[in-house]
Amino acid sequence: MTFAVAAEAYDRFMGRYSVGLAPQLAALAGVRPGQRVLDVGCGPGALTTELVRLLGPAEVAAVDPSESFVAAARERHPGVTVEQAAAEELPFADDEFDAALAQLVVHFMTDPGAGLRELARVTRGGGVVAACVWDHGGGAGPLSTFWDAARELDAEVHDESNLPGARAGHLTELFTTAGLREIEETSLEVRTEHPSFEDWWEPYTFGVGPAGAFVAGLDPERQAELRDLCRERLPEAPFVLTASAWAARGLV
Ligand SMILES: C[S@@+](CC[C@H](N)C(=O)[O-])C[C@H]1O[C@@H](n2cnc3c(N)ncnc32)[C@H](O)[C@@H]1O
Repeated sequence: MTFAVAAEAYDRFMGRYSVGLAPQLAALAGVRPGQRVLDVGCGPGALTTELVRLLGPAEVAAVDPSESFVAAARERHPGVTVEQAAAEELPFADDEFDAALAQLVVHFMTDPGAGLRELARVTRGGGVVAACVWDHGGGAGPLSTFWDAARELDAEVHDESNLPGARAGHLTELFTTAGLREIEETSLEVRTEHPSFEDWWEPYTFGVGPAGAFVAGLDPERQAELRDLCRERLPEAPFVLTASAWAARGLV
């Protein structure tokens, strides 16, 4: 699975959905002017953009392990501190932030418990940790049609449904284990219009994330088969897809 891809490929594959989550996650975390906030697993910066809009660049920091995403986030957000780092080892001192947020990242952490404890460590006492993960487990994420078709093609496929945080209540469990308190879990919804089937499908061929890696591992005939299985499952274009994410916030 890879996030060593161009930021533009990410924008077209996942950014088209994650941009709509950012204002909702920031609102859930209660982000407001005057605060200093960390965006963990920022990618090219869907949530960073919203944090800069709310706080100004000097009050926003962001990290991501992907070199190409760090470069893009730096270029797109002058004045924001962007570091190449993973959640499990954040390059910040204790209590530096009023809030630490991770949008669509917990399920990719090597050790989600350690990652969330790090988010809590760099957040001051009484501050907020918040995270969201698509409802892959409930079949309501933006990639659910794709994974459904992929399962028909290959019953053994590793879809994303068992990843950490991707089912109801699991973010709450992880937040509890990380020592957060007064945890609230909710679901967030994003509606995205797709002008054509091609517009929907093409980004799956860019090699982004587990779905892109799965497509890249198929020979051209199997790719065409998968594409047809997806087309059968989608409405006539243009169509709107509604996707849900589980989101949690807790206090340090
Ligand atoms: C689905 S993208 C989300 C990006 C962005 N937050 C957004 O909402 O568009 C997942 C991101 O998590 C990053 N990531 C993967 N493992 C990570 C880890 N252990 N710690 C922090 N970020 C990680 C990836 O490089 C990628 O940028």
